[in-house]
Amino acid sequence: MRDYHEFLADVLISEEELHVRIAEIGAQISRDYAGMDLLLICILRGGVMFLSDLMREITIPHAIEFMAVSSYGVGNRKTTGQVRITLDLNTSVTDRNVLLVEDIIDSGRTIASVIEMLETRKPRSLCVCTLLDKAERREVHVPIRYTGFIIPDRFVFGYGLDIDEYYRNLPFIGVVDLDRYVVEE
Ligand code: IMP
Ligand code: MG
Repeated sequence: MRDYHEFLADVLISEEELHVRIAEIGAQISRDYAGMDLLLICILRGGVMFLSDLMREITIPHAIEFMAVSSYGVGNRKTTGQVRITLDLNTSVTDRNVLLVEDIIDSGRTIASVIEMLETRKPRSLCVCTLLDKAERREVHVPIRYTGFIIPDRFVFGYGLDIDEYYRNLPFIGVVDLDRYVVEE
């Protein structure tokens, strides 16, 4: 695997900017859900860094859960919308206040399917918190309660987001220069 400097076009959101914004969202969630039973559900794997930083900024008692979904068909940079649960929750969401924690919403199809599947389990409330929103790419309407940053239509990586499963560990959000990123055989 190559060093990311070879294909990093620029740093879109720095570690410090992420920290400041996530602290604001954590404070807002703490106010909005005060006195309520809150369950954060992280969508693996991209949401994992965001969840771990966000939960440290939430000052009210809450539980966490994980689920993983995979989308059917076409490549790994674009989703078809049909998603399948590959790792389900271990706890019931019935009658609980659920907040879905996502890394990025692009077409919106993945999160829309997750919402549809979870609604059948009758949570008391079900809201979405996404770090990044590629708003101009939206194909289906998704109600988003908390957004970290609205970003342009560029392929980004780092802070949980991958390029072909690597580079999730980087502490910032970078933009890929696709001309310099060539998949090794
Ligand atoms: P959607 O179903 O089109 O909204 O796609 C959402 C999923 O696509 C995210 O959870 C990511 O896994 C992936 N994705 C979309 N854009 C990017 C990106 O710029 N970098 C890395 N992954 C992305
Ligand atoms: Mg993802």
